[in-house]
Amino acid sequence: MKTYRVALLGCRSRGTATARVYHAHPRTQVVGLCDLIEDRLNKLGDELGVAARFDDLDEMIRQTEPDIVAIPTAPSLHAPLALRVLEHGVHIEVEKPMGLDLLETDAVMEKAAQKGVQVAVHHQWRLSAQTQAISRAFREGKIGELRYIYASGKGYYGGFGLMEIGTHLLTSMIKFGGPCRSVSAVATTRGQSVTPEHVLPAPRGNGTVAGDRVTATLQFDNGVTGTLLQHRFDKLNLNAMGLELYGTEGRLLWHPHGAWWLPHPHALPVDDLNAWQKLEPLYADGFDQVVGSIPNGELVEGDYWFVDEYVRALDEGRPHECSGAEGRHVVEIIMGIFESAAYGKRVDLPQADRQHPLLRWRREAGLGGPEPMPMTDAEWLEEEKKRLGD
Ligand SMILES: NC(=O)c1ccc[n+]([C@@H]2O[C@H](COP(=O)([O-])OP(=O)(O)OC[C@H]3O[C@@H](n4cnc5c(N)ncnc54)[C@H](O)[C@@H]3O)[C@@H](O)[C@H]2O)c1
Repeated sequence: MKTYRVALLGCRSRGTATARVYHAHPRTQVVGLCDLIEDRLNKLGDELGVAARFDDLDEMIRQTEPDIVAIPTAPSLHAPLALRVLEHGVHIEVEKPMGLDLLETDAVMEKAAQKGVQVAVHHQWRLSAQTQAISRAFREGKIGELRYIYASGKGYYGGFGLMEIGTHLLTSMIKFGGPCRSVSAVATTRGQSVTPEHVLPAPRGNGTVAGDRVTATLQFDNGVTGTLLQHRFDKLNLNAMGLELYGTEGRLLWHPHGAWWLPHPHALPVDDLNAWQKLEPLYADGFDQVVGSIPNGELVEGDYWFVDEYVRALDEGRPHECSGAEGRHVVEIIMGIFESAAYGKRVDLPQADRQHPLLRWRREAGLGGPEPMPMTDAEWLEEEKKRLGD
């Protein structure tokens, strides 16, 4: 059985988490690391015993001849670096979101098709143990026919939350609901419908966004509809985050730390306080054997599922479950949400105009691109307060 050679581009937080699972998986081997910052490169290289260290990605790929290159870098670099890596004709995995607009995601998919290689987007929650638990219950028919999906973020500034967390939630929504056919959305800033002046560059380089509260209604295939909330809270709250599947005979609730089944479609907590039943998380085969294998670090089970799926997908010559096509569709939905909120109309997907809708909206209002904003969340929010005259 082939062992897949993996090189990593970016050795900070996500790069470290990703490198650990490729190192731990019995069918993958980390053959090279690349970062512009020497200390990060050496720290990760020393931890995993990888001697092949580079500050130039092309050199890394030429010398180490990987099958897969992982690209855990800042969002604005996902598509530009993916395009550079794809020139070498290797499979890639890129962090989420796949690109900052549809021009970027289209360019990546076109290049991958030209080179005959796979693109995966690191949406590990779509495969994590809690998602596997609700998937299994769903497949077993525990909620009957799916009719509606609810999902919410954890309180980031709305438009930013859409790019940061919404991308994870949306890929799970389409896993169960099928492709999204249309989007109707409302975005407000301080309770007022957004205007072109509310369009801003998001924190952490997450592209152009608008609205501190974004509410979207989504229409999926097979008569399934959904709601996605990305509402800013004064304080982030992980409890708010989750995804719920409403079926004709029951409901399934996913949270990063748990999965539950309600064996009735409608129930008030007063009917039966124990009505929700906890589901057993489902880990990837072999995860229990490697979970303690990193002496000073943690192996994230969802990341391990993601790597395990890449191995199976490449063995079988098929796309990863978190494929580039799915990642691009997620960006289509996000751009559709921004377009619908800006223009006050339903947007059918996939959209023919691939430009960023909020930048188009500003241009049509006689405005140029928005002024730069700070990159860190706290500084960004302070600047936004000043902008709004607080
Ligand atoms: N999937 C998830 O659940 C999840 C969670 C958190 C963050 N993320 C995403 O992961 C990504 C990376 O996050 P992070 O905090 O590790 O990022 P980061 O941007 O702080 O680190 C990226 C690293 O890549 C290096 N780098 C950038 N350009 C390079 C180049 N041309 N050649 C070599 N090295 C280069 C940088 O020096 C840096 O060390 C972000 O896009 C973020 O949105 C995903």
